[in-house]
Amino acid sequence: MRCNSVISDEVMVDVDNLNVIFGKSHIVHDVSFKVKKGEIIGLFGISGAGKTTIVRVMTCQIEKKYWNGTVKVTGLSPAKKRNHPKILNNIGYVPQLEELNLYYELSPLANVEVFTSTYGMNKQKTKEIAKELFTILDIPEDTWKKRTKYMSGGEKKRLSMAIGLIHNPDVLFLDEPTTGVDASKRYDILSYLKKLNQHLHTTMFIITHDLEAALICDKTAILRDGKLLEFDDPHKLISSLPSNGLVLRLTLDNLNEKMIDIIKNFEPIKKILRVGNDILELLVDNFEDNLSRLIQFLVDKGIKVNSMNRDLATFRRFFQIRIDEEQEKESKEMDSIIADRGDIS
Ligand SMILES: Nc1ncnc2c1ncn2[C@@H]1O[C@H](COP(=O)(O)OP(=O)(O)O)[C@@H](O)[C@H]1O
Ligand SMILES: [Mg+2]
Repeated sequence: MRCNSVISDEVMVDVDNLNVIFGKSHIVHDVSFKVKKGEIIGLFGISGAGKTTIVRVMTCQIEKKYWNGTVKVTGLSPAKKRNHPKILNNIGYVPQLEELNLYYELSPLANVEVFTSTYGMNKQKTKEIAKELFTILDIPEDTWKKRTKYMSGGEKKRLSMAIGLIHNPDVLFLDEPTTGVDASKRYDILSYLKKLNQHLHTTMFIITHDLEAALICDKTAILRDGKLLEFDDPHKLISSLPSNGLVLRLTLDNLNEKMIDIIKNFEPIKKILRVGNDILELLVDNFEDNLSRLIQFLVDKGIKVNSMNRDLATFRRFFQIRIDEEQEKESKEMDSIIADRGDIS
């Protein structure tokens, strides 16, 4: 199965030059992106980056007076109040906390009925769709008629996803779907999302600070301080790093800052990341050509390497590098502003 087989050229979400301003706080700055039908988009950024705010604009939760720019969701603009019912019919939303869209005292099937009664769907159809979704999501049949409160955490999460999809929306928004989920179960949630996307061709927005989620994303958006730093295929982003994203991982005895300063002097090294107590990852220009020179350099400097291996950078590393770069740029700008002020006074 081709990974991108469900994607078509139809544009589902089009955001152009979005700015969100609450009073004196300019929260989102000139954000633009386009999303095609069937794509899975990951919205990444540390807490406070503006992820939820952007999604709130797309899901008709922020009044037009607080934002400007052009936004189209399934071809309709949330700027017009009269479009809201249609947009809300075309999208689904899975909140971070399942308790916000589930009634724990009701059974999963009864939860579905409550939800679909608001969409005027008939009971029989509802039941059929629910069973299909529950089956895709491996929600055991013996839980369907028992109270939701007796389900496991993972089952509740999957039920919450089923509820978000019950009216077959074109676009599904999920807020932090893996936050608070056991590390061992996080990937399960992601693979269920991918499975749903493949079966239903639903376009998905995953808001998250869990960088593992990039594994299932067709496009990843990186936000920092309300600015969109990147919006692209994560593999493309990784290969934009030096040597197409090849990383040299070194394990070194008694690794310390002094050693790192020495290694930094090897000119082809573009980036050094300390990723463990005794582990460094290096991004090196012209990896193949410079590898033997680097080994010789380490030997000459008396640096003992315990192990060395090459790998492709993960999205986590790309994110780290990109955010660092932005921070450096900002502090340089700040320094030059301070220097300019010094000149004037
Ligand atoms: N209604 C609001 N009024 C003023 N500031 C807000 C409002 N909503 C969010 N913010 C601020 O906008 C920034 C981005 O928030 P948010 O979009 O929730 O970030 P994220 O989802 O990436 O954690 C935060 O600094 C937050 O305090
Ligand atoms: Mg948020």
